[in-house]
Amino acid sequence: MYAALRSIGAYVPPHCVSNKDLESKIDTTDEWIVRRTGIKTRYFASDSETSSSLGVRAARQAIERAHIATSAIDLVIVGTLAPDYINMPSTACLIAAELGIHDVPAFDIAAACSGFIYLLSVAKAYIESGMAKCVLIVGAEKASSVLDPNDRGTYILFGDGAGAAIITPTQHKDESILDVHISADGKYADCLYTPRQTLQNGANQCMQMRGNEVFKLAVSKLTEEVGTILARNNMSASDIDYFVPHQANYRIIKAVGEHLNFTPEQTVLTVHRYGNTSAASIPMAINCLYEEGKLAHGNRLLLDALGGGLTWGSAIVHFAGT
Ligand code: UT7
Repeated sequence: MYAALRSIGAYVPPHCVSNKDLESKIDTTDEWIVRRTGIKTRYFASDSETSSSLGVRAARQAIERAHIATSAIDLVIVGTLAPDYINMPSTACLIAAELGIHDVPAFDIAAACSGFIYLLSVAKAYIESGMAKCVLIVGAEKASSVLDPNDRGTYILFGDGAGAAIITPTQHKDESILDVHISADGKYADCLYTPRQTLQNGANQCMQMRGNEVFKLAVSKLTEEVGTILARNNMSASDIDYFVPHQANYRIIKAVGEHLNFTPEQTVLTVHRYGNTSAASIPMAINCLYEEGKLAHGNRLLLDALGGGLTWGSAIVHFAGT
């Protein structure tokens, strides 16, 4: 028994914020942001939207495209760094209830920007062990709700959005989630975190990031991570149809891609449009491929991500479709 990625869905809130818009709010320039990150625009959710409301929209699309009844879903898992509530109820409980899914397990995973790889890992384990038959996974991020509008290191980088997928069993390895690897090391916890109290240095409860350290760790860890998952599956970059990295910063994507010989044609880029949408970035990028008509049954995707924790991981996933 294998696990298969049946469908993908995404939602982007309508309010587009350009780098020029940010110039009037913080000490930055369009030129700096484009040169150092590749980002041109991002989307911010309205006051009435939450991570769960964004996630519900993405989930509805994934459910519709999988041609399944909502009642078939027997597990809901959500990755988010901006949950609607601090600890409870989980954003997964809220999304499940809004979709009319009751009496099935629902929980969140706190793996920040690596959230979607962690979700795939858990969904795969549940399906392959027979503990679930139809899993809804959602990366849902109202990241703007945890950003400090005065911190130019983070405010320019993140955007809001959601992505979702339906995972079901298959007998066919060539349409399966072939391999997922996840890892973490809390010794880097202070590189990227959201404090619960105002810190002694006056920093607030918003996201704190030592961007340049995270940048360097991302390039080195992800290069090693992707090299390892390719090697243990006896593959090289040429065996992959699409390299779909977490969209944190164009320079990270380019550095890792070049180390591992992915061509620009293979590499999926959305960071210029959406910024860094954390756990939503990979499913949003897969959704772009899908909506551009580029995704066929059995296409092989290589995913990678690194985020707060630090957490990181990679996956080799065939797109199964329906
Ligand atoms: O997705 C989860 C994990 N997160 C990431 O992967 C993010 C990784 N980090 C990054 O993407 C980059 O480190 C940033 C985009 C956050 C920052 O870029 P950088 O090239 O690492 O810049 P830096 O922090 O080393 O700062 C270089 C200079 C500094 O000025 P001085 O000290 O050289 O005068 C900063 O104050 O750039 C300045 N700077 C800015 N200038 C204009 C920092 N942010 C900005 C800004 N606009 N927004």
